[in-house]
Amino acid sequence: MSHYEVKIERRISSYSYIYRPPNSNIIWVSGLSISQIFKDRNKLSPYYIPKRLPHREQQINALLSIYGPMLKNIWSVYPRFTQIIGPTGTGKTCTTIKFGELIVERAQKEGIDLRHIYMNCKVDGVTRYVLYGNLVRKVTPKISFKSLSPEEMIRQLIEYLRFEETFLIITFDEIDYLVQMNPKEHVIYDLTRFPEFHPGEPLPIIGEIFIARSLKWHDLLESGERSTLGAGIIEFPRYTSKQIRDILEDRVEEAFQPNVVLDDTLELISDITANPPVNGDVRVGLELLYYSGILAENAGSNKVLPEHVRRVYSGINPTITAEDIMSLNKDGRIILLALVRGLKSSGSAYISLKELRKFYNIVCEEYHIKPSEDFENNVQDLIYRGIIDMKSLMEIGISGAALVDLEKFLDNLLRQIEDVERRV
Ligand SMILES: Nc1ncnc2c1ncn2[C@@H]1O[C@H](COP(=O)(O)OP(=O)(O)OP(=O)(O)O)[C@@H](O)[C@H]1O
Ligand SMILES: [Mg+2]
Repeated sequence: MSHYEVKIERRISSYSYIYRPPNSNIIWVSGLSISQIFKDRNKLSPYYIPKRLPHREQQINALLSIYGPMLKNIWSVYPRFTQIIGPTGTGKTCTTIKFGELIVERAQKEGIDLRHIYMNCKVDGVTRYVLYGNLVRKVTPKISFKSLSPEEMIRQLIEYLRFEETFLIITFDEIDYLVQMNPKEHVIYDLTRFPEFHPGEPLPIIGEIFIARSLKWHDLLESGERSTLGAGIIEFPRYTSKQIRDILEDRVEEAFQPNVVLDDTLELISDITANPPVNGDVRVGLELLYYSGILAENAGSNKVLPEHVRRVYSGINPTITAEDIMSLNKDGRIILLALVRGLKSSGSAYISLKELRKFYNIVCEEYHIKPSEDFENNVQDLIYRGIIDMKSLMEIGISGAALVDLEKFLDNLLRQIEDVERRV
């Protein structure tokens, strides 16, 4: 603390002091900071699930009305499959997790040992072997699945559940990703045919919930898979500006000190979030709120103003200039070109490293270049330069580009890279 010019404001105990560095809204308490802007900034994290999920009551009730009655005769039910469909940031994941908590609570009241297992296919695996291994691991460490086939893992899992008198509802989030990555695995065929392992007998897996962004993934299924999946679909529409405002208002109350975020600020964030290019992704609204708060704090303001939001929003628009591209070596430019093509063809904000390599090889062939052995290092270099963004091996995108009109942005970028390519 010695490098701060601090004024001791109030002595709160024999060894703790509250300090206020000049021109700052951060009050230091013996080295810990208490912000005048934030009360608990964690409440703005996309991983935090608030107690109330405004405008998703209908969807939670729909899930409860499907699975709730099954608790009455849990020993003789057959599994029900439900699909949740909605664009990004419409609360599919958080609503399903909340539903899981509610149904488990209800089951407990009935003396039933029900568990909700959440699987994210992007994280938990895109092959049956890895996915089922992770499923078994999440349920119990007692089954050693190392030498088992995928079918055998499920068989043992069901036996274990029967023995322990435990019931499961399993959610498979981002199932569209898995099916796109590995359509030949026919994972839906497996997952919807568990009952056939023990024909005629009820199953301890009472429900499976599949989450996807649209129904497009059905195109990759066989007709048999589509039919066992059934028609139980719960839609998650995009939020309107007013709905986003309600959602963010709750978060403001939890995350910020009282009266710090102006009404106008909240309105601006809600409008930006509801309209194109963001199109209702609440995650972006939460980010804007968070970074606007940080900016206000760093600027020494005791209010979060619309101006802070505007500055943050303009800052997160990606701008890659021709100069940036010129400064790259040939391999860097080819990788960037491959990434842009890959993103354009996938239509999403990210592609995997594997897909990037595939597009890279195609572009190399087109430009008659031998693919570099340093591919990974070159990708790393682009990350270090802040040009591309790697959230995981499965998610590589253009820095900040998840938030803009990707199509238009990529078209521009593509033209710039190809221009540079032609000139050199
Ligand atoms: N109705 C709501 N009330 C409160 N917070 C919400 C609501 N809907 C979404 N959120 C918040 O918005 C963020 C994104 O929600 P979530 O992850 O559930 O979206 P998603 O539909 O699963 O998106 P994706 O398709 O990208 O996976 C989370 O931080 C979540 O807490
Ligand atoms: Mg989700």
